[in-house]
Amino acid sequence: MNRTLVIVKPDGVERRLTGEIIGRLERKGLRLVAAELRTIDREVAVRHYSEHEGKPFFDDLVAFITRSPALLMVVEGPDEETYAVVRALMGATDPKKAPLGTIRGDLAIEMTENLVHGSDSPESARREIGIFFPDLG
Ligand code: RTP
Ligand code: MG
Repeated sequence: MNRTLVIVKPDGVERRLTGEIIGRLERKGLRLVAAELRTIDREVAVRHYSEHEGKPFFDDLVAFITRSPALLMVVEGPDEETYAVVRALMGATDPKKAPLGTIRGDLAIEMTENLVHGSDSPESARREIGIFFPDLG
């Protein structure tokens, strides 16, 4: 799977950072395959983040990701490592620990409002692209 799902989360759209984030992905050499601005509904959010169901931050996470439009994207790179390239560009989950030079390290400071999502494996990429872009399969 040379493709991966990227979401500019609602905070990124609200803060007018979509262009900045797409620019970083494109300048790295990734190609945009699909993009849609959409308010994620609760059912889809729960499915997408099902691995975190039951954790203390789950309700806040679902409320956050559904609160206003998000930019859903599929990006493509040269090989199976594409998801890892995106994860490296994003930086650590906690923006306070994310290195400078990464999206989260440069542009975010709070744990939940960390601007971007990227699939964490080729299997997750396949599953998540199926959730948000079923026609791409
Ligand atoms: P994401 O799935 O959104 O790309 O982020 P990630 O892989 O870096 O982090 P993950 O462990 O999958 O967590 C998903 C999102 O849940 C929020 N979170 N809060 N308070 C907490 O301890 C906590 N842990 C995770 C973050 O918004 C994280 O992006
Ligand atoms: Mg994750």
